[in-house]
Amino acid sequence: MYLTKVEEQMLDGEQGEVVERCMRLLTRLGDVYEAEKMIPIGSVQVAGVSYKSVGDPGLEFLEDFASKGAKVRTLTYLNPAGMDLENWKVFGFPEDFAKKQMRIMEAFRSMGIVVTATCTPYLAGNLPRFREHIAWSESSAVSFSNSVIAARTNREGGPSALAAALVGRTPNHDLHQDENRKPNFVVKVDADMDASSDFGALGYIVGKTVKNGTPYFTGLPLDSNTDKLKALGAAMAASGAVALWYGEGLTPEAHLMDTNGLEVIEVGEQELKEAYEALTDGEHPDLVVIGCPHASLREIGEVADKLEGKTITKDLWVCTSRVMKEAADRMGYTDIIAKAGGKIVADTCMVVAPIEQMGFKTTGINSGKAAKYLPGFCKQKVVFANLDTLISEVE
Ligand code: F3S
Repeated sequence: MYLTKVEEQMLDGEQGEVVERCMRLLTRLGDVYEAEKMIPIGSVQVAGVSYKSVGDPGLEFLEDFASKGAKVRTLTYLNPAGMDLENWKVFGFPEDFAKKQMRIMEAFRSMGIVVTATCTPYLAGNLPRFREHIAWSESSAVSFSNSVIAARTNREGGPSALAAALVGRTPNHDLHQDENRKPNFVVKVDADMDASSDFGALGYIVGKTVKNGTPYFTGLPLDSNTDKLKALGAAMAASGAVALWYGEGLTPEAHLMDTNGLEVIEVGEQELKEAYEALTDGEHPDLVVIGCPHASLREIGEVADKLEGKTITKDLWVCTSRVMKEAADRMGYTDIIAKAGGKIVADTCMVVAPIEQMGFKTTGINSGKAAKYLPGFCKQKVVFANLDTLISEVE
């Protein structure tokens, strides 16, 4: 791989041990993926933040980097942590877990990383430009930025994203190059797509079918908002490994794509119904969670509207970023949800939080991604349904 003079110096250790190690990792990856050069990046999103995911080895690694003076060279955000960083005690997160999680956050903060822990960084101050090269990790955020914003990122692992942040570059391969961004399936949708969960169900079906392919959707309602598009991308990235998709009339580069001769997948009401059934293996949830990917202010407002004046009998969390939570506080949504008996939980989500240790056994969810992950990651039974049905479950 061609390296500039500065990049050679980084690799030779002239900018310190941490930079050298990061460059070594990135050039090795670049060689594996046959990148010809490195490219500068506009932002990074680092996964591997929850203590539940990284454990003591991850914590020690991050503290070691921080103690050696590692500093990021571009705007860098974090994926969700394992707990609400401000209200963990009130919400019942275990204390020993919290102490380790706070050490992880401090290590990131000292590297200059914005300790906003969210899978929707584009709603919280890290919004890439059209066609900007970035290095993001979390699969739903990668899908959203590649597809809905038309930025360019591969699906980075936690270490490669951190390395990219610390050197301000990433190897130029795969989805950074236009020739690798062509669709290879057409998905014809002929179904009522009203609820966000419908987009999750559709994403679940398509991800399973196309695996790491690039689907091109026709027939999606042209007024589908970004919340629904994030739900679609998240589910495809979970049931398959879709990092880029196009929506006719919906995503900015769809009209530039040639779909002639591509394999066609048809999805109608029957397939959606079967996806709802496939994603449900429990009944009567003891916890309902909205906000996978992290809820937007509009989604929090919808939950508040539906809960206003009601009292719920089971736990209900709305997972979101700290930035959205603060906006929800100002709008009075947090109070409405709290008065009904629910919680807005910031900085974390039900998959990376230790919910199984907190005693929950069956989770109700309107996200295709969460429905796919909760059984394996959190030993949960799942009820996959739309928001109205989930709220009726906890009333
Ligand atoms: Fe985000 Fe957690 Fe879902 S990281 S996409 S809320 S599984």
